Amino acid sequence: MMAQEGPLGAGQLQAMKAGGEKIVVLTCYDASMTMHCEQAGVDVLLVGDSLGMVVQGHDSTLPVTMDDMIYHTRLVARARQRCLLATDMPYRSYLDQDQALQNARRLTEEGGADMVKLEGGGKIIDSIAHLTANGIRVCGHLGLLPQSVEELGGYKIQGREQDAATRMCEDALGLQQAGAEMIVLECIPAGLARRISESLQIPTIGIGAGVGCDGQVLVIYDLLGITPGKQPRFAKDFLAALSAGKGITAAIETYVTAVRKGAFPDDEHSFT
Ligand code: KIV
Repeated sequence: MMAQEGPLGAGQLQAMKAGGEKIVVLTCYDASMTMHCEQAGVDVLLVGDSLGMVVQGHDSTLPVTMDDMIYHTRLVARARQRCLLATDMPYRSYLDQDQALQNARRLTEEGGADMVKLEGGGKIIDSIAHLTANGIRVCGHLGLLPQSVEELGGYKIQGREQDAATRMCEDALGLQQAGAEMIVLECIPAGLARRISESLQIPTIGIGAGVGCDGQVLVIYDLLGITPGKQPRFAKDFLAALSAGKGITAAIETYVTAVRKGAFPDDEHSFT
């Protein structure tokens, strides 16, 4: 577990990357889970709009509203002590720079988030620069963008074609230049994720992006085996792998240790 006092600042995130120390991120949607994550040594809690699927039962993240995100961010903020608290800006909440700033302020001021996450590169990079210029801490998100699932034609691996990979590398640099402090890379080939990670000063956080990222994130319901049905390749049930009698904190600790050692994700949970 990291012996840091308060939530990680931008300099500490970059220092962890520079020192080869992996950053452990988990999604979190309520106070009880926050306490387990704090105790298990997680670095960053992400109130993901994945809550639309795993908590609310929708088949995508698109129906999630600003009010939903503020509500869940507050639940996590109430129990959070040490972890950095990042929260997703939901679908259509950052259509232009002014709207992005207004909604990011609601998530930080009303919700209690330290940082907001926006999906995409290209056209939203200017909005991210506007947020950071106004003191909002930002996490980017490239690769599979669940809020664009309709345009992408489903939940599919991204960046296999050369031009898409090149665009992603350019977007990652653009996000760093705009002041983003870290970037989630979702469902992309492990080699591309490693290349992007090596080209940046800011850390990358992978989900289905291989072990070459500077940190990892999982949806906590996947880590605990709560999500029913077929699991994505990158998901791993860490609770099922424990011996009888061990509980939720132990499962999260196993994930924390595996990420810090570079043992998760292995090839079985990555894409080539
Ligand atoms: O919404 C979410 O949970 C996310 C993670 C999968 C990165 O964006």
